[in-house]
Amino acid sequence: MISFTLNNNPIEVDADPSMPLLWALRDVLDMTGTKYGCGIAQCGACTVHMDGSPIRSCVMPLSAISGKKITTIEGLPKDASHPVQQAWLDNNVPQCGYCQSGQIMAAVALLESNPNPSDEAIDTAMQGNICRCGTYPRIKAAIKDAAAMQSGKQASQHAESPAQHFDFNLAKNVGDNA
Ligand code: FES
Ligand code: FES
Repeated sequence: MISFTLNNNPIEVDADPSMPLLWALRDVLDMTGTKYGCGIAQCGACTVHMDGSPIRSCVMPLSAISGKKITTIEGLPKDASHPVQQAWLDNNVPQCGYCQSGQIMAAVALLESNPNPSDEAIDTAMQGNICRCGTYPRIKAAIKDAAAMQSGKQASQHAESPAQHFDFNLAKNVGDNA
């Protein structure tokens, strides 16, 4: 039995300690927002946070997360009120959507560690998150917008986004059969 905190809720998972966290999330806990892409820590689709830092859940065994704080895409606000979610909506970032939960979690972690990242810092932080649809320019623009929102520069402009009903479960649902 592995005990850890998942999206601020203490849980226990009865599974093989060598099982990758991604498998436990999707197949044991039925939390399919986190995606399987490569399975070898090369694409970033499976990015979640462990104690606030981005990790590749496809190569993280359950034994390594005992007692840790894990945050997945489902741990972000359901009303899409997080600045990164808002910026993703405002910039219409997703195309097919498959990589996007990993991209968003990487962006959230970046802005928590560096609230005002340079272009170079964004490139460095995001380079491990692959998007086969090539949404990189919109991702970078959204991260800059999110940084500005977080600093309050655009707080009033984004107070009532018309895109709030965008279904963030899209990223959760796309590729569930993968
Ligand atoms: S599925 Fe984990 S990095 Fe690709
Ligand atoms: S939006 Fe399709 S892979 Fe990134």
